[in-house]
Amino acid sequence: MLEFSVKSGAPEKQRTACLIVGVFESRRLSAAAETIDQVSDGFISAITRRGDMDGDLGDTLLLHGVPNIQADRVMLVGLGKERELDTRGLIKATRAAVEALHHRGTAECVSHLSEINVRGGSIKQVLRQSVVAIGDALYRFDDLKTDRDLGPRRPLRKVTFILPTRRELMEAERYVREATAISNGMRMAKNLANMPGNLLTPTTMAEHARKMTETHLHLSVEVLDQSRMEALGMNALLAVARGSNEPPKLIVMEHMGADADTPPIVLVGKGVTFDSGGISIKPGADMDQMKFDMGGAAATIGVMSAVAEMQLPINVVGIIPTVENMPDGAAMKPGDVIRSMSGQTIEVLNTDAEGRLILCDALTYATRYKPAAIIDIATLTGACVIALGHHPSGLLSNHDPLAQEVLQAGDNVNDRAWQLPLWDEYQDQLKSNFADMANIGGRAGGTITAAAFLSRFVGDYHWAHLDIAGTAWKEGEEKGATGRPVPLLAEFLMNRAQQQKDSDD
Ligand code: BES
Ligand code: MN
Ligand code: ZN
Repeated sequence: MLEFSVKSGAPEKQRTACLIVGVFESRRLSAAAETIDQVSDGFISAITRRGDMDGDLGDTLLLHGVPNIQADRVMLVGLGKERELDTRGLIKATRAAVEALHHRGTAECVSHLSEINVRGGSIKQVLRQSVVAIGDALYRFDDLKTDRDLGPRRPLRKVTFILPTRRELMEAERYVREATAISNGMRMAKNLANMPGNLLTPTTMAEHARKMTETHLHLSVEVLDQSRMEALGMNALLAVARGSNEPPKLIVMEHMGADADTPPIVLVGKGVTFDSGGISIKPGADMDQMKFDMGGAAATIGVMSAVAEMQLPINVVGIIPTVENMPDGAAMKPGDVIRSMSGQTIEVLNTDAEGRLILCDALTYATRYKPAAIIDIATLTGACVIALGHHPSGLLSNHDPLAQEVLQAGDNVNDRAWQLPLWDEYQDQLKSNFADMANIGGRAGGTITAAAFLSRFVGDYHWAHLDIAGTAWKEGEEKGATGRPVPLLAEFLMNRAQQQKDSDD
């Protein structure tokens, strides 16, 4: 387990396996590098003069035998142009340094990067994002390998961040603690999402959620099974589950950190543990990736874990409709008309548009809480990947102040979202001759019509929808879950908790 701490102090006095110091572009030394250079009679500048480290952002160079200091080694890290360095750049450099150390088998280090002033960044941002980025960089999923690729013999275990002054030490410790909770939540989200469909089913996901109550005092979990959902009339959700042998579940997690009568934030996470497309079956290529179709559920569980670990003084409910989407003799068919829990009828024109079918009933269920806001998180549309690529999550909302709050939260923690319009015009694309609406709206604006569909199930409640189809996992060599948007959601909830506190005072 990774451990983080903070302190202040001079670089030459740090007793550590490795001291991390920055170098700006054109070989300009950061303050810590400058100090080391002075006490070592120009050891660092001799190296930069030879051209081994120009300061390009993310470049690293490990030095041994630096005289007159307490550290065993010094790692130089390029920071790019000094005037242009922002939080994102500093985190990129931190990540590069830590990755390089980890692979070389250095168990512990002290970083002076955290004392560098960045444009528009605070110590809070830098520390929080550093902790999260380091946890992210060192993450592996090798539980299922027999010859576990154990990685370095001595993996990185401890990182100490140096602060410019002692004044901020107390706050900084809190930032690190909070970030550790977020990082743990992200790891949980990744572990769940990386798990294959045969091992992570609606049933095992529910068991995982239940287990979490053992370690968290304010967390309670209730799991609604098929018969409970039948009684509630959740026919849209149940229609998706019908083609699978795996029974569906509705997982309801409650963290009650505030007064019982304070309206909660409700998170709703899409939990399709495998999406074959159903009768409208998907093409074979890359179909394995549809095990990640519960990324929204994973993020919801991950952020509930973070909120519980931080004991955030806020009420948060996580609702996870979870099913497997498979084709068999009982499966729903194109043309079927189903009545959702809300009473509205839906013509299923494509069984592969299943996410919105399970979400619509979960959203109806969410309104029972009379929530302060609802945020759903879903790997909902391939169209979102086409529109935005893999960088931001798609954001759609029926309430602009909420949308702005979500966007701002994402910006703060470098887990960004980008808003798409949810104008009434798009609703027309959902017209059906046989039911109140169709479950697809054609190829044009597919992400928006999916959100338009969901918007019909949230009543007048403030609601935001995050389409994470492009951000929840990576393809290619680094194939795997990203843990996004746990950081965005955690930031949003922490800001809400702070607002509540401010208004109580
Ligand atoms: N889970 C998929 C969306 C998806 C596709 C996520 C690719 C990530 C990568 C979703 O259930 C789906 O199949 N959506 C369809 C909707 C269409 C039938 C209207 C899609 O995007 O093609
Ligand atoms: Mn689908
Ligand atoms: Zn899906």
